[in-house]
Amino acid sequence: MVKERSAIFIIFGGSGDLAHRKLYPSLFRLYKSGYLKDHFAVIGTARRPWSDDYFRETVVTSLKESFKDDEKIMEDFAQHFFYQSHDVNDSEHYIALKNLAAKLDDQFDAGHNRVYYMAIAPRFFGTVAEHINSEGLKADGYNRLVIEKPFGRDLDSACELNGNISKAFPEDDIYRIDHYLGKEMIQAIPRIRANNSKFEDALNSKYVSNIQVTLAESLGVEDRGGYYETAGVLRDMVQNHIMQIIGAVASDEPEATEAKVIHRNRTALFNSLKVLSPEEVDKDFVRGQYDTDDLGEQKAYRQEDNVASDSQIETFTAGKISFDSDRWSGVPFYVRSGKRMPDKSSRIDIVFNDKVTDFGVRPNTVVTLLIEKVDGQSILINGIDYRELDQDFIELPTAESADNSREAYESLIIDILAGNRIHFTLWDELRSTWKYIDAIRQRWDSQTADFPNYISGSMGPDSSEMLLERDGNSWIWS
Ligand code: BG6
Repeated sequence: MVKERSAIFIIFGGSGDLAHRKLYPSLFRLYKSGYLKDHFAVIGTARRPWSDDYFRETVVTSLKESFKDDEKIMEDFAQHFFYQSHDVNDSEHYIALKNLAAKLDDQFDAGHNRVYYMAIAPRFFGTVAEHINSEGLKADGYNRLVIEKPFGRDLDSACELNGNISKAFPEDDIYRIDHYLGKEMIQAIPRIRANNSKFEDALNSKYVSNIQVTLAESLGVEDRGGYYETAGVLRDMVQNHIMQIIGAVASDEPEATEAKVIHRNRTALFNSLKVLSPEEVDKDFVRGQYDTDDLGEQKAYRQEDNVASDSQIETFTAGKISFDSDRWSGVPFYVRSGKRMPDKSSRIDIVFNDKVTDFGVRPNTVVTLLIEKVDGQSILINGIDYRELDQDFIELPTAESADNSREAYESLIIDILAGNRIHFTLWDELRSTWKYIDAIRQRWDSQTADFPNYISGSMGPDSSEMLLERDGNSWIWS
């Protein structure tokens, strides 16, 4: 039974790409399913001087790209949308926003709840949060601040940003988005672990040989060269998505459903990350940058728009992450992510060693959790769909996961409206993961890489294979 929610959304960056591509379609799905019905309104803000009508038209146009519904329902939905032109540094504009939100709250009977959604450039996050507070935008219901990534570009900048935001909002009201935490498989992992004691009991250094996380993409940086030049795959994918995936698989006590316990366990895991020395970075992490393809048809990274012709930014990395904990000591977590790889593939491969027979499965079993389903399959055991196997090692909890195919953003917005912070990133987690990433970044920034070093459509540089071969292992997805 769907419970209708009431809130006024204020979307900073309301005319932007993220809002149109992800947020409005997700809000529309929630509207169709009844989570949002009569008691909500969306205020889009950005610099451009748009009218409400024009804003609504842009919303309907972007919905038409993804939905086949009757235009009438899209238009009814768009009647909940309002536009306010806004300069993030101008206090007066916040007063105008506050008044508009109060008026819409009365009009839609929205329960005095506010969701402030930062879909803007990260350099404005702090300024906007401070103004929301200082200009008294907060209403009597809940006031939740939603922040998109990147949350800082290293530990220092993340600390500074967090300092600014936390002057304006208590940690409990901050929802830092990592859209991988909204994905169905990542959300199912705690349940899979809790419902399969054999699997759970084998998730430790006694039975696991290594764990591999691959987030491969076939596309290049497309039109995001400018942003990518400030990030690279290490910041773009490893610091956040890969770390959070490891958090879901490797932290303790997944059976606890309370957000605080889950976060405490994830934080404990990240605190046990073994931060690498410069020499260990050279040994345990490799980087790459894509060149053109075999036929010379695709652009090399250095030829992309807004990318320096001698760019040192990596579009591929592979590395070995280790933890200093009883549970995982000695187990390598091999991680890999890159642009322009052969396919889009997001997966976790858990490679068990020959002792697993204690738990009733064959030695050297590989359990693969596909983060993006492939041909409807989501879990593979030794490459075979687990549903076709006559064994009881692992079972998907069906009742709860029946609610699938929900877009990551849709599920995260439901959580925000319900005040459920489980699928968001806490500051303590970020502090540890940034510390880990900084050590690698600093080493790389002190050296010159020989780029480009892999061709588009390949598995990355050879050094990625060698990283595992050295330990007598190999990538399962190859
Ligand atoms: C984003 C990165 O966070 O994740 C992008 O900024 C990347 O560079 C994207 O393409 C991948 O997400 P997904 O859900 O398509 O795997």
